[in-house]
Amino acid sequence: MKVVATAPSNIALIKYMGKTDTLDNLPANSSLSWTLESLRSTVEMEYVEGLSADEWAPLDGEKLELSETGRAKFLKHVARVKAEAGVTGNFRVRSANNFPSDCGIASSASSFAALTKACYQIFEALDTNYQAPSVREQAEMSRKGSGSSCRSFFAPWAMWTREGVRPLELPVQRMVHQVAILNTAKKEVSSSDAHKRCVTSLLFKGRPQRAEERLAEFMQALRKNDWPRAFDITWAEFQDMHALFETSQPAFGYWHPDSVKVLALTREYWREQKDGPLVTMDAGANVHLLWRADQAAKAEAFGSHLAEDYRLLSTAADGAFKDSRA
Ligand code: DP6
Repeated sequence: MKVVATAPSNIALIKYMGKTDTLDNLPANSSLSWTLESLRSTVEMEYVEGLSADEWAPLDGEKLELSETGRAKFLKHVARVKAEAGVTGNFRVRSANNFPSDCGIASSASSFAALTKACYQIFEALDTNYQAPSVREQAEMSRKGSGSSCRSFFAPWAMWTREGVRPLELPVQRMVHQVAILNTAKKEVSSSDAHKRCVTSLLFKGRPQRAEERLAEFMQALRKNDWPRAFDITWAEFQDMHALFETSQPAFGYWHPDSVKVLALTREYWREQKDGPLVTMDAGANVHLLWRADQAAKAEAFGSHLAEDYRLLSTAADGAFKDSRA
């Protein structure tokens, strides 16, 4: 017996950084993300009678390799979902991402969301009396595996507050997403460790409040159609998060010299055009750009310029995906 589930990745514009509870992944502040529908993970779950423990392997034909810690975190989540549902059998879990595995795009959001869904699907397939919990409850369970994955259950916008995670109605419903791939080296500090270490920064004081204020302002900016304001807020937000990293004790950071170059290019673009994309960075060197669907021509032109020097993954507003180096 086998099931297959898929889930998208997401990019936060108001960041989840810092936890009030590390075991359950309860966030120090609310976060807001845009769902990246075309960057997905697939998880296949197979029930194997007599298997002595849950196992992980890459999906057939895929190159994806999970580190020892990555594998342990993944299987620990399977154990958690099983325990909560009262399921005792063991499973063979296979997973893959549809985006290049060497591009440094975090797959934890999409893979944990897909894994959680796959667990509930196989429980239902094995026992017709078993009823999977609601999508919101599944998202809450997924959060315990990896916090940001809970936002991948909703689209196009997801908001995660201390009250829980839910879809959010905002006027912008379609966007072009571009990400410049700037450093594919393995991260020295995982995002889970970044959550722990950032609280040692003196700047962490006031950080949850700043994030909450930006969240409220960002929603208001989009509702008022004030795109330049939305840009200012998301710019300040990722800079705030990276400043926490750089001022932690000991300090750490993710930027690559090319991150600075791409950020400078986007800022220059805004200055000249009085318009441009929302810009953000996760716990990594890559720079993400989001353009409204009606800016598609500008996105195309700016993206072609970036692609001369950098590998660029783009998703058009209609979902069409392009890898400039493919
Ligand atoms: C920088 O969800 O990867 O991407 O809950 O420990 O698994 P864990 O952390 P994770 O943190 C993501 C942090 C971020 C910002 C964000 O996505 O909001």
